Amino acid sequence: MLATAASKLGLTGLGIQAISAVGNSIRQFSSTENTDLKQALRELIPAQQERLKALKKGHGSKSLGEVTVDMAIGGMRGIPGMLWETSLLDPEEGIRFRGLSIPELQEKLPAAVPGGQPIPEGLLWLLLTGQVPTSSQAAAVTEELRARSNVPLHLRKVLDALPTEAHPMTQLSMGIMALQSGSRFQSAYARGVHKSRYWEYAYEDSMDLIAKLPQLAATIYRRTYRRGEYIPPSYNLDWAANLAHMMGYEDPGCLEMMRMYQTIHSDHEGGNVSAHATHLVGSALSDPYLSFAAGMNGLAGPLHGLANQEVLRWLKDLVAKLGPSPGRDAVRKYVEDTLASGKVVPGYGHAVLRKTDPRYTCQREFALKYMPDYPLFKLVADLYEVVPEVLGKTGKIKNPWPNVDAHSGVLLQYYGITEENYYTVLFGVSRALGVLSQGVWSRALGLPIERPKSLTMAALEQRVAGQSA
Ligand SMILES: CC(C)(COP(=O)(O)OP(=O)(O)OC[C@H]1O[C@@H](n2cnc3c(N)ncnc32)[C@H](O)[C@@H]1OP(=O)(O)O)[C@@H](O)C(=O)NCCC(=O)NCCS
Repeated sequence: MLATAASKLGLTGLGIQAISAVGNSIRQFSSTENTDLKQALRELIPAQQERLKALKKGHGSKSLGEVTVDMAIGGMRGIPGMLWETSLLDPEEGIRFRGLSIPELQEKLPAAVPGGQPIPEGLLWLLLTGQVPTSSQAAAVTEELRARSNVPLHLRKVLDALPTEAHPMTQLSMGIMALQSGSRFQSAYARGVHKSRYWEYAYEDSMDLIAKLPQLAATIYRRTYRRGEYIPPSYNLDWAANLAHMMGYEDPGCLEMMRMYQTIHSDHEGGNVSAHATHLVGSALSDPYLSFAAGMNGLAGPLHGLANQEVLRWLKDLVAKLGPSPGRDAVRKYVEDTLASGKVVPGYGHAVLRKTDPRYTCQREFALKYMPDYPLFKLVADLYEVVPEVLGKTGKIKNPWPNVDAHSGVLLQYYGITEENYYTVLFGVSRALGVLSQGVWSRALGLPIERPKSLTMAALEQRVAGQSA
């Protein structure tokens, strides 16, 4: 049946590989043909528990570096203080998901159309297990998510209690909280389940939530922008394509864009606001719904996920003021004016990256293939020639290069998804894949409640008194 599902979805074939990142080296070895994701996890967890135990026992007191005053008052920037298994960010090279770069994901993960974009279900298997799935394993995830996708009746009622003017991210957060009444983790905890089984309930909640998010996101879109004319799910489409379908978009290019979009936004190691917030709240054993809602409230900030909305507003304002094809000098002046007015240039800069974000590059390649002559894409490409130079001249911005948000909105605009206030919801749906996968591992590894040390200014002054400058 799963093989039939795989061929129905048109998933392209793959080698059977498993990946384990050790330092900078990646080992690949055979995995089984098991298509049961939870069973695959059950088999993998004991060895990882032993690995962590050995790390703690053998090296627990070793130093990872010093913490400076700048770090303490500078947003804890650069402090290595969290375990995060699903991805790792290199300042120069960008993100690796379980050791794989974005081009490697595109090469190795199953796709819905031959040579096309990976389907996020394959990425979910990879994030959870560290193994590149076969086509049948990815198709089994599609089936599993489909089986869990029905939303409770009260979800629509909760959303309908909000005005359609409520920001889509507010609706997303409230929608996730409405789904929380179905948390199996919370009821298992209330029944007194043994802590060695927490991961199983975290898995159930995470898969349920990931399965329901496309319907929640599409409901928000249709009630806010399409007079509440809802479109039922299609049972023939993969998870990301179904999201586009329920929003009202069927163009094959748009479905590919959605698969790519949902794959590349999924995870960016643990320290970013949405990942860290999810992790922090989950560490109190708040269930996956509660912790993911916290993460989404962080993603809604303009310095984080909301930047994709801000980029589009900024671009629209630029076009309104200067026309669709302004010359470089006019664009340079517009960027300088943005800085002079005390605002950030959205879509540029990053707390960790020091080069162009590979997620930007991946979207640029998609645009070159599907929309090379689209004026807004050309404008985004022109900005790349101007903005880094202007930002660089300020002398204070550590990374003048574009990030993921500089490009994503243009792809959405091209396919007719023009409502930029909605964009962060699409980012949020994708982010669930990474942060909830890590959440399952956090419970499997028994990670403790988070509690970093805070200091008052007086305490900082006391600690540095007497230290040479
Ligand atoms: C992402 C971001 C929040 C990282 O912040 P950070 O780690 O503090 O970045 P830096 O260390 O380079 O910041 C140093 C200074 O440059 C400024 N800066 C950084 N990026 C900037 C940008 N794109 N436009 C204008 N100023 C910027 C900071 O605001 C800071 O100014 P301050 O010293 O006056 O407070 C920041 O680059 C930003 O605000 N970018 C625009 C929003 C965005 O695209 N967010 C999505 C990120 S994926």
